[in-house]
Amino acid sequence: MGGYEIFEPISLACVLPEVFPRVALYTETNGKHVLYKEESLPFTEVDRDRLLNSKTHTLFVRSGDFEEVSRFTEENLSQILQMCEEDQSAKCAALTQATTTYLKNIFTDPETAQDVERCRKLSGHLAQHISETQSIANLIRTLGEASPFAIKHSMQVAVMSMLVWSKLFPEKGDDLVDIGVAGMLHDIGMSLILKDVLEDTDYWTTPGMDEIKRHPFEGYVFLRKNGHYKELVLDAVRHHHERYFGGGYPGGLKGDEIKLSTQVIGLADMYCTLITERPTRKASTPEEAFRIIGDETHKCFSTILFYAFQAAI
Ligand SMILES: [Fe+2]
Ligand SMILES: [Fe+2]
Repeated sequence: MGGYEIFEPISLACVLPEVFPRVALYTETNGKHVLYKEESLPFTEVDRDRLLNSKTHTLFVRSGDFEEVSRFTEENLSQILQMCEEDQSAKCAALTQATTTYLKNIFTDPETAQDVERCRKLSGHLAQHISETQSIANLIRTLGEASPFAIKHSMQVAVMSMLVWSKLFPEKGDDLVDIGVAGMLHDIGMSLILKDVLEDTDYWTTPGMDEIKRHPFEGYVFLRKNGHYKELVLDAVRHHHERYFGGGYPGGLKGDEIKLSTQVIGLADMYCTLITERPTRKASTPEEAFRIIGDETHKCFSTILFYAFQAAI
């Protein structure tokens, strides 16, 4: 093992005994990675129990093995989540891992979006998790903590929008999965405008604000051509920066001209941007974020929707 080997963390929850890919697994002790299992050996139930007993919840793989492991996680997500049983933090870790991998693919190669079912499947798992978990505020904060801004932000907006939608419109549950899809993909246009969107720590500090403002329309045009997305998704991508009292973009729409689903994505977008640490701005607490959005509400959002949003979280 070379001294400069790079390792990637994986949740123990994703390491399904017997069927997990044959890659070397490492643990971490005092900042050093120690070989736990050679790649020629299978990972067994006994290994899993031993690690759980020693309260080891994170393992490491060599970065060269990470893609294979991530694909395995995504393909076996149903079974992995079932294995986690009541352990909500393990479930959250497995979901974060699968969604991070998906979004990394999307932002580096937007054509990944052609696979609509892949995105809907992930969104369905996230929706299921939201309905089970109690501590959603915690989930939002920790989702993709170590990921690039674009990934973390897209995941947060997806989860937040689904949470709000399920509480405000329980009768419109059929749209829930597509709300999550819209949240994950709302800023896909950024990857078509910024040179390396995953290196960006905050879209809005990038020079050329006018360029950046093209992202909703560019994203919409791209998704229309690539994949068969529902109108709800396309509309949210195109109009999530419209403002209820006008002055938004790209259409300058007003009031009920903006679909309710798009308004929810827009509100979640602003909230999630505020609670995230950025180079130019410290992260706001949820209370501060609500105060700031509340002050802006007479310009940006329907008052009724804002209060309902606040009550839903
Ligand atoms: Fe946006
Ligand atoms: Fe956004």
